[in-house]
Amino acid sequence: MNGIYKALWLNEEGDLEVIDQTLLPHVETTKVLKTCEDATLAIADMTVRGAGVIGSVAAFGVYLAVRQTKILDSEFNAKVQALKDARPTAVNLQWAVELMVERLRNASGDLVVKAKEEAIALNNDEAEKSLEIARLGADLIEAIAKRENRKVNILTHCNAGWLAVIDMGTALAPIYEAKRRGIDLHVWVDETRPRNQGANLTAWELGQDGVEHTIIADNTGGHLMQHGMVDIVFVGADRVSRQGDVANKIGTYLKALAAHAHSVPFYVAFPTSTFDFEVIDGVKDIPIETRSEDEVRYMVGLHENGNVEKVLVVPQGSRALNYGFDVTPNRYITGLITERGIVDADLLKIEELFEDLI
Ligand code: MRU
Repeated sequence: MNGIYKALWLNEEGDLEVIDQTLLPHVETTKVLKTCEDATLAIADMTVRGAGVIGSVAAFGVYLAVRQTKILDSEFNAKVQALKDARPTAVNLQWAVELMVERLRNASGDLVVKAKEEAIALNNDEAEKSLEIARLGADLIEAIAKRENRKVNILTHCNAGWLAVIDMGTALAPIYEAKRRGIDLHVWVDETRPRNQGANLTAWELGQDGVEHTIIADNTGGHLMQHGMVDIVFVGADRVSRQGDVANKIGTYLKALAAHAHSVPFYVAFPTSTFDFEVIDGVKDIPIETRSEDEVRYMVGLHENGNVEKVLVVPQGSRALNYGFDVTPNRYITGLITERGIVDADLLKIEELFEDLI
């Protein structure tokens, strides 16, 4: 590994090196992306995933495209269009590509140098936002710790740590910050079928940082909330509508319903780049990715022979359906933690705080 908490970095050759997230937690290895096509494939096959990191890789993907074409010609346009289409739900992908292309179209001088500088700048900005989200979210955890005077139990779904958003994550950022403040906490980690980002990635990340955690089957959250075993829920987001509806990993909606039923605060953490201000009604208009049914039919894990293997867990002929995301309507959300502050999931409140971007 690279020794510090980073999901991607430019290596000495100027290529993009990323942690291969498909093999974690059993194999820790990286992939080198040399071309825009490499970046597109890494996003599509989920070598890299998580809305923020998809956007980060996309920004460097535009740099790699310029390195190939040198000019913003039709070949360049085709490459960046394919990059933009690699996955449909996380709006950070389109945001990063469009911002990079716009900046390059207005640039003068050496375009390759400029593209590299812009991709680094975009990533530095996103990293700053993650730090602010960490501080704001940790204040919520600290308030619970002071009020209850005991360990704080947090539930999270999928992976929204530093593997998903540089450099500290979104939903996990407050947890890391709270731990640094010395707050006693424990995290319930939803396994997050079918790809198990919770069991594989969140548990691995938390373990690296020495955060106490317990992996639970996806259906356990309601029971825990019913019995007062969850103080607060933090999830990330892949796209948030102007009225505060949140697209996130499939299963998030059910957790929000359970949290609402049991008056457990349910917070969504994300940077401004995850807003899609063009969409008002998220349930109706956020595009939801459908993935291969084999992700449901098979599971991947470490065999006792030491190899990472894929096994069929359903009858041979059974079909499966695999929606990657769902949308949680704003009424089930306690608050949206952004780098600008914690805002109600409400059209007018959001328009007020983000007036300059709308
Ligand atoms: O399919 P994935 O692994 O890319 O989905 C990731 C999630 O849904 C995360 O919870 C989300 O991106 C929030 S973290 C930016």
